[in-house]
Amino acid sequence: MVSNITIVVGASRGIGVELAKHLAQTPGTHVVATMHKGFSLELPNVEVIQLDQSKTDSVHAAARKVKEADTLIVNGAIGEDELLTAHRVVNAFLPPLRVGNTRRIIYISSTAASLTKQVGEPWGLHGPYADSKTAGNMLTVQYHKELHDDGFKVVFIHPGWVATDMGNLAGPGAMPVTESVQKIMEIVNGLSRTDGAKFFDMDGTTLPW
Ligand SMILES: NC(=O)c1ccc[n+]([C@@H]2O[C@H](COP(=O)([O-])OP(=O)(O)OC[C@H]3O[C@@H](n4cnc5c(N)ncnc54)[C@H](OP(=O)(O)O)[C@@H]3O)[C@@H](O)[C@H]2O)c1
Repeated sequence: MVSNITIVVGASRGIGVELAKHLAQTPGTHVVATMHKGFSLELPNVEVIQLDQSKTDSVHAAARKVKEADTLIVNGAIGEDELLTAHRVVNAFLPPLRVGNTRRIIYISSTAASLTKQVGEPWGLHGPYADSKTAGNMLTVQYHKELHDDGFKVVFIHPGWVATDMGNLAGPGAMPVTESVQKIMEIVNGLSRTDGAKFFDMDGTTLPW
């Protein structure tokens, strides 16, 4: 019997595809892996659907295919319209999340979103990326305020510096994707209602705004 349905948005590559693979190994879990371009993930317990988060019609068409879900992981990367893309995705998948009782929304954020940490920080992606991630954090806070009383746990998680196409732009030395995914899922699985709107670092501590 399926007891845990997780939607992973942006699961063609990087952290997203590894999250889908990791979840697929958990008994009783069904994964909805949304993909923008690639459709190559053939695994038991994984259903692949097309979703371009920058297009409203595409997001809504994907959401109509999902009747019920426990957890939504908004992972799809980056773009100058990131705030709008995250909003489209969360909004469209609220109906199936409301059918379930678990009601978890995870926004994959970044230390680039931390105003405090960005001051004087020479390393990492800046400019539109940091702007959009910071805006994504505020969007997540606003969803928390709107949905907390309905039992939703809405949080954001920095996945660490991870060896993906994006992470490798900063050079060698990033952590393996499997390690990041393990830590992300430890946080997700341990979430309680009092965690709403927390900005988690990948080790489970919280980051400054
Ligand atoms: N890697 C790091 O060190 C790091 C650090 C901090 C935060 N993050 C965050 O972690 C998340 C995942 O990053 P990553 O490193 O795994 O990046 P990645 O390897 O570059 O993968 C990006 C993912 O986003 C999807 N995507 C891009 N445009 C999309 C669109 N319009 N609609 C739907 N999906 C779209 C891609 O799908 P297609 O290939 O099909 O387009 C791909 O699955 C991002 O939110 C990123 O900001 C990463």
